Amino acid sequence: MQPEPYKIKVVEPIHLLSPRLREQKLVDAEFNLFKLLAKDVYIDLLTDSGTGSQSDTQWAGIVRGDESYAGSRSYVRFEAAVKTIFGYPHVIAVHQGRAAENVLFGSMLRQGSLVLANTHFDTTRANVEALGAVAMDLPTPEAGDTDLLYPFKGNIDLAALEEVLAREGARVPLIILTVTNNSKGGQPVAMANIKAVRALCDRFGIPLIFDAARFAENCYFIKTREPEYADRSLLDIARELFRQGDGAVVSLKKDGLANMGGVVTLKSAELTELVRTREILYEGYITYGGMSGRDLEAAAAGLEEVLDFDYLGHRVGQVEYLGKKLEDLGIPTVRPFGGHAVFIDAGKFLPHIPPSQFPGHALAVALYREGGIRAVEIGSLMFGTGDAQPTLELVRMALPRRVYTQSHLDYVADVCSRIKAKRKELKGFEITYEAPFLRHFTARLRELTARSEPVGA
Ligand code: F0G
Repeated sequence: MQPEPYKIKVVEPIHLLSPRLREQKLVDAEFNLFKLLAKDVYIDLLTDSGTGSQSDTQWAGIVRGDESYAGSRSYVRFEAAVKTIFGYPHVIAVHQGRAAENVLFGSMLRQGSLVLANTHFDTTRANVEALGAVAMDLPTPEAGDTDLLYPFKGNIDLAALEEVLAREGARVPLIILTVTNNSKGGQPVAMANIKAVRALCDRFGIPLIFDAARFAENCYFIKTREPEYADRSLLDIARELFRQGDGAVVSLKKDGLANMGGVVTLKSAELTELVRTREILYEGYITYGGMSGRDLEAAAAGLEEVLDFDYLGHRVGQVEYLGKKLEDLGIPTVRPFGGHAVFIDAGKFLPHIPPSQFPGHALAVALYREGGIRAVEIGSLMFGTGDAQPTLELVRMALPRRVYTQSHLDYVADVCSRIKAKRKELKGFEITYEAPFLRHFTARLRELTARSEPVGA
């Protein structure tokens, strides 16, 4: 793996609790890893969202943040940074990605609308469904085979898209392409696929909106996997990608390299008017949206630095390094490795635990129990409600940007190896409480015994 393309300037100590204390923390959290305190986690791979280290340039911007209510200098810098990459004339700052979804979808969807996507992220799906609309995923069939080395498993299934549009086009107010496709393994969408979606959008008169949380990683994969883009700059590729769309909703907590922030950026002035009304209602005045001046500065600086080939090569290289280690251990993963995380196929790894007993969650609990590592289930616990039945039971180990080193990754692989040795002993779970939306955040769970009965029952 290429060495880190940065020096470490600020450090934060981390500690591994004793096995007995880790067990106690699991019980206290009712086996929901979101409820663990971060101080009780040794290596936190829960998410790459807002958890990255910021650069010295970003921190300098934070000190310079202009906190004026109206006309802030930081907003001017932010707007320019967003326009440079995305190229759309209208920039609406919001506090994070799901707020972008809320203000945009609230302006475009109504009861009974049908939203089509390569795959909706969980908050995206929830924001669609909360408006009484239907979210339909049309991932490329290759994405269902975790072993298949297909370079663009984030693609949308073009044939299925065309078929649904021909049948239901009148109900479809927008099409979403999530770049990279987080829920399918951080897999990229090919420029060729994006262009084909654009052609269908033109034919059916439907706008294309990108969920661009990890756009820079997607552009890196286009450059390194789609031969005609090999010699193009990453900024050039990003501009070409966004030229195919009508706008984007962006969580800037990922490739914005910021700890907080989001943006909606749009081509249409008319739609922007509607979205601005909701922005002012839910987020804030137009020159700060949901962000403080210092957040705007950090995100602007992040956008200015993220499309760096060395940075992205190292980032994707870290994911590949950990993924290959697990592969060598014979642990089933989603391959090829994606942009921000290694996904373990818990369905294959723990075949004795059925989807109804959440094999992914069982593995996530084992990672904490065995090594103080926090990961997240992306399977039946997260998505197994309503009409959306997940086809894969995954555990995502997301790498925060510029946070962990190679020896941390070696430790994670070592813990996985220890779990593999005792995997037959792992037990399933049952839910004892769940909320109507996004149940995984607040669910309470109970560990089952081998005979599928709750522990202590
Ligand atoms: N879209 C995608 C593809 C995401 O991955 C996320 C967040 C969002 C939208 C929502 O953005 O968190 O800023 O409101 N993903 C995080 C994750 C939470 O862990 O993957 P947000």
